[in-house]
Amino acid sequence: MALAKKTVRDIDVKGKRVLVRCDFNVPLQDGKITDDNRITASLPTIQYLLGQGARVVLCSHLGRPKGVTPEFTLAPVADRLSALLGQTVALAPDCVGPAAAALVDALSDGQAVLLENVRFHPEEEKNDPSFATQLAALGDVYVNDAFGTAHRAHASTEGVAHILPGVAGFLIEKEIAFLGQAVEDPKRPFVAIMGGAKVADKIPVINNLLPKVDKLIVGGGMAYTFFKARGWEIGSSLLDAASIEFVQGLMADHGDKLLLPVDTVVAPEFKADAPATTVDSSQLPADQMGLDIGPKTRALFMDAIATAGTVIWNGPMGVFEFDAFAAGTKAVAEALASSSATTIVGGGDSAAAVEKFGLADKMSHVSTGGGASLEFLEGIELPGIAALQDK
Ligand code: 3PG
Repeated sequence: MALAKKTVRDIDVKGKRVLVRCDFNVPLQDGKITDDNRITASLPTIQYLLGQGARVVLCSHLGRPKGVTPEFTLAPVADRLSALLGQTVALAPDCVGPAAAALVDALSDGQAVLLENVRFHPEEEKNDPSFATQLAALGDVYVNDAFGTAHRAHASTEGVAHILPGVAGFLIEKEIAFLGQAVEDPKRPFVAIMGGAKVADKIPVINNLLPKVDKLIVGGGMAYTFFKARGWEIGSSLLDAASIEFVQGLMADHGDKLLLPVDTVVAPEFKADAPATTVDSSQLPADQMGLDIGPKTRALFMDAIATAGTVIWNGPMGVFEFDAFAAGTKAVAEALASSSATTIVGGGDSAAAVEKFGLADKMSHVSTGGGASLEFLEGIELPGIAALQDK
């Protein structure tokens, strides 16, 4: 699906101040960035704008701070950007106000500055119009490339687009090309793989994708609610009791499309070194919990993936953070990596998994959006994209 919005290619940016909203909400440990994918994914847009002679004013949120909180400073991002771009990207002490304006005014064509965390101002998440106006004062045009935050109608993702002419960056264009194509015009067979803890979180996605997919594979913590709905013992496995009725309806009406785990790796407790055994999925011991899919299931799922034309994967198959329960998630990641299908990995945990297994570059697309990609797959219009100018 082609994006129906204008992009950076459609505007003249030479000598202009271009306010660019990125999603630099990267994981940090002791002030160090542990995964800079969201930064590198923003580079094509930033480099293009710099190359066109724009004065680039970057902004983003980081974390969920309550007011000004030093641990949520974007300083590590400014450093990483400087290294990646090969030029200094100064960090403005605030995202609005005179100090930020002075740094923006001092920019030459082809230079960039990063504004401090927009969420240091509570007005950001309230989409406060006067805060959006202050932000907008730092740009002549607005580019949204923050796909990961496009499901939030905040001042820097939505509000500013009503004040400045707004277009999409290359990352948003790419995300929509892959996710949109899968949903609208997938190469068949179209296989969706859903995992993760709670069925409830995935119900809207399942409802939206079910009429379009040829197979829906369910694994991970979600699967135990399906077992329970069949009347099977699930021991102390994860259960989303409120979703049992939905799951029963799903199995009754669409059983032909569903692929569920036939065997399960269980352990007495949720611990990295808990003793693991594999049992038939209908025979879970009452004093154990399911923590991964078993080898027969891995083979079953890998077969379905091998013959697919398009695969979308969202949510791990087990507790992949523990090596003893990582085999299911790894097998799915490897099946996607070696498949000739268009393979799309939703953000969040499944993106972290393919990264952990060193397979990210073998996927057609790894989304930078967790919540945003889910909402897109639910069929919801993302406000950060909706507010941009139509093509
Ligand atoms: C994300 O990490 O999903 C985005 O950056 C959005 O962050 P938020 O959930 O705090 O709005």
